[in-house]
Amino acid sequence: MSEATFMREDMERILLSEEELKEIVARIGKQISDDYRDSTNKLILVSVLKGSVVFMGDLMRAIDIPCYIDFMSVSSYGSGTTSSGVVKIVKDLDTNVIEGADLLIVEDILDSGRTLSYLKKLLSARKPKSIKICTLLDKPERRVVDLKADYVGATIPDAFVVGYGLDYDEKYRNLSYVGILKPSVYGGEA
Ligand code: IMP
Ligand code: MG
Repeated sequence: MSEATFMREDMERILLSEEELKEIVARIGKQISDDYRDSTNKLILVSVLKGSVVFMGDLMRAIDIPCYIDFMSVSSYGSGTTSSGVVKIVKDLDTNVIEGADLLIVEDILDSGRTLSYLKKLLSARKPKSIKICTLLDKPERRVVDLKADYVGATIPDAFVVGYGLDYDEKYRNLSYVGILKPSVYGGEA
């Protein structure tokens, strides 16, 4: 059996197809370009590793105004599917000075909100001119801290999803669609 078939069989269903993801990225890219077009500040897209790299790669090409990119890595999840509530910086930005810049945090998914709320606070202390959040997916039902994203690709139900950068135990990131993982794969109910 090929690996592609193997991964597809671990999905309960496909939530967002490659086509739908393309439409989402085009829409958000245009919106961001329009919103920041008249700003005289440096626009920095901050991708949160590793889950947002696929979205980031597509999104930055859908933005038609000058922008810079940087990466941060924080850990809030182990290999499980629920938030530990512990957020640790694994890799900080390469850019030393973000003072006066327009920061746009690019995330794969907004779940409990703990990770992004921590990141937003941390980066705000470095005095950017503005700071906004762009997330591909939003699971509002799961929120434990009060946080809203400024740009949302799709609002999704409370299910564990993988693909297009999102993983379960570092697997499935390379899928070109977003799928709901069968609970039996992570030891839940079938
Ligand atoms: P939060 O701090 O609970 O909002 O967690 C956000 C992070 O948890 C995301 O950046 C993902 O890495 C991970 N995460 C949350 N839900 C899912 C999911 O359904 N699939 C894969 N990763 C998820
Ligand atoms: Mg992530």
